[in-house]
Amino acid sequence: MENTYGNFDDAAREYVITRPDTPLPWLNYLGQDDLFGLCTNTAGGYTFWRDARLRRLTRYRYNDVPYDSVGRYLYVRDGDTVWNPGWKPTKAPLDRYECRHGLGYTRILGGRNGVEVELLFFVPPGEDAEVWRTTVRNVGAEAKDLRLHSYVEFCFYEALNDMTNFQRTYSIGEVEVEPEDGAIYHTTEYRERRGHYTLFGCTREISGFDTSRDAFVGVHNGLHEAAVPFAGAATGSVAHGWNPVGSHQLDLRLEPGAEETFAFVLAYVEEGDAPKFERPGVAAKERGRALLARYRERGAVDEALTAVRTFWDGLLSGFQADCPDPHATRMLNTWNQAQCLATFNLSRSASFYETGIGRGMGFRDSNQDLLGFVHLIPDRARQRLLDLAGTQLADGTCFHQYQPLTKQGNAAVGGDFYDDHLWLVLSTCAYVKETGDVSVLDEPVGYADTPGSGESLLHHLETSIAYTLRHRGPHGLPLIGHADWNDCLNLNCFSTEPDESFQTAGDVAGSRAESVMIAGLYLYACREAAALYRHLGREDDAARLDGHHAEMLAAVEAHAWDGDWYVRAYDAAGEPVGSHVCDEGKIFVESQGWCVLGGAGRDNGRARRALESVHEYLFTEHGIVLVQPAYTRYHAELGEITSYPPGVKENAGVFCHSNTWITLAWCALGEGERALETYLAICPSAQEDVDTYRAEPYVYAQMIAGPDATVPGEAKNSWLTGTAAWTFVSLAQGILGVKPGYDGLEIDPCIPRDWPGFRVTRRFRGTVYEIAVSNPDGVSGGVRSLSVDGLPVDGNRIPLATGADTVSVDVVLG
Ligand code: GLC
Ligand code: GLC
Repeated sequence: MENTYGNFDDAAREYVITRPDTPLPWLNYLGQDDLFGLCTNTAGGYTFWRDARLRRLTRYRYNDVPYDSVGRYLYVRDGDTVWNPGWKPTKAPLDRYECRHGLGYTRILGGRNGVEVELLFFVPPGEDAEVWRTTVRNVGAEAKDLRLHSYVEFCFYEALNDMTNFQRTYSIGEVEVEPEDGAIYHTTEYRERRGHYTLFGCTREISGFDTSRDAFVGVHNGLHEAAVPFAGAATGSVAHGWNPVGSHQLDLRLEPGAEETFAFVLAYVEEGDAPKFERPGVAAKERGRALLARYRERGAVDEALTAVRTFWDGLLSGFQADCPDPHATRMLNTWNQAQCLATFNLSRSASFYETGIGRGMGFRDSNQDLLGFVHLIPDRARQRLLDLAGTQLADGTCFHQYQPLTKQGNAAVGGDFYDDHLWLVLSTCAYVKETGDVSVLDEPVGYADTPGSGESLLHHLETSIAYTLRHRGPHGLPLIGHADWNDCLNLNCFSTEPDESFQTAGDVAGSRAESVMIAGLYLYACREAAALYRHLGREDDAARLDGHHAEMLAAVEAHAWDGDWYVRAYDAAGEPVGSHVCDEGKIFVESQGWCVLGGAGRDNGRARRALESVHEYLFTEHGIVLVQPAYTRYHAELGEITSYPPGVKENAGVFCHSNTWITLAWCALGEGERALETYLAICPSAQEDVDTYRAEPYVYAQMIAGPDATVPGEAKNSWLTGTAAWTFVSLAQGILGVKPGYDGLEIDPCIPRDWPGFRVTRRFRGTVYEIAVSNPDGVSGGVRSLSVDGLPVDGNRIPLATGADTVSVDVVLG
């Protein structure tokens, strides 16, 4: 089936959308540092500073009709017609439409009746401002007199309050306008106690403005029929209370062939310690004026745009691949890395599916996300690691979530998810392997419930391992607590109360429910920690961790093997979950992936048998479903998973995140074809039926509906998902096998036998490695020879280059 909505422009690192009526709004992110924007292909979305809940600058209406209402709108009035270059909100038919989502910017071009308007939205690096470079062209044969109206709707900063507390918000709105400067200032609450405001300015001369939504749109109108653009003239409204908006009116006369370029600037400004008022009732706006003046200077906007491109090119240059699979290549080189950075910046807070007012930073989520962004931004990864460790409690459990602005654990959600602490071992080891920075291990972090404590990061890792060691159940397997990675497998919840949360209800104290998935994760963490100790020259500690591994492995092999796969858990009554004896939910994916990755079943054939069972019972054309058979009724002893309709989310949906562990597990067994097949099933670029899939073709989704669902193959929850980090790891380190190690890069590919070879450029500890792998014998893996700058090296590890900028590495498989 042909994708009629768009295509990749790989050379430009853009996804090109060629019609506005995509199956869902297709989203991109603007911003690199502190100010971020969500921007869809019809210019929908909103802007915030650092925290999508606490510093929301512009509004969005979730789940509105139509979806994706309010955004960066520009109305064009040409004679009697009014249209928008991004199609929405008027949806006046366009003669030309193209949206290019690029890295850190989105460019939307709309044309109608001889006029083209191009809007390019971006956030300059280091600036708390979103710039809309606007070009208006007369491509027709007659002179045009055009009138433009910009439109944003201001948010009262605290996004939840903004949407719920109208008895207050309808009375507090304040704006100031400096028309000669093209500047609209949203100063609400400024007088109360804040030294900040939102500036919406225009670098070109304006002929009018509006700041009252009632005046601009009309009390009984929708945005598609906004009063001012259709009536033809701005009203000069100054909002007091109700809903302040920002709208400029611009008049342009363009001869045939002529064009004009200018910019709108939407900025968050803090005046700092400067006096808050110029005179009573008038805010000090010096910094805002200076900011706008900067973008009025000739060339300033284009320079800022170049800086965005330079930033992203630099970022991605640290990992580039060229392999025979075009989907894997383009995802790795561009979009997968962009998505990993989005998870660093936004965790699970702000997307088409996440409102920005819900979850903060997830402990397990962010530790896993780090695996995908540590090579991009190692310094910032270090701080993230320490922030995460700081929300661990002295007993080893962790706050499940914390707020990014305050870095405080979220008490409402609490802890007792007994996988959380183990992910810290994985993220720490990944960071040290990437950077070589062992000093981080001695960093005093302390525990969240022990004020003034200063235990080191390494102490946290030991506390994590020790927690699982101390909290094992009747089979010697780790206790599960509220849930493990699968938030919806709630074995201690027994909820019959519709008003309580599955994730927090139920008493975990004294519970016997055990998780085989955590057992596998623990096996993996013990190995990682042992290798770290060996690197530190602490053989005794390494041997101690080996002992822990062996002990847990014995429990797994003795109690978790079900005959053809590993069981998923033992419930609170000691009954197996994910076993052939169950009537539904007989086999789960997570325990297969993690037991194999943790080293179980390697000597006795069980690892292979478990993965073959995954292939036989769980693999589908849309990916690997999480469980089979799907649950068809609610089981109080299993929790939320059994409350979902069959085929979606954790109840037998393709939960893409978990698929990546199977890709890696196949790699561990040397099965390159299976590894790639597993990857391609969930790869958005490889989806053929876009009308069914619906989500963006350029980023991974959390979930694709499985065969038990009404619409199998339909994706949801794109962008902010652990799938991003883990697909990157599974492709870069699993299939291509370029693995950061303590003493250098290791080359250990697992590719389809018919691949003649591939190339990878990898920046590692300051040196760029140009790696060329050839596969003359058609094998999946195994390094026959390796040479570095022409000199042969034994084994498959590239020794650390000292001082060299670039090193070329030739690898022959066989
Ligand atoms: C969501 C959560 C993640 C969890 C997963 C599986 O993606 O963010 O923490 O592991 O669901 O339930
Ligand atoms: C729901 C979702 C799960 C997510 C959790 C977060 O249970 O199904 O994926 O992890 O909410 O609280």
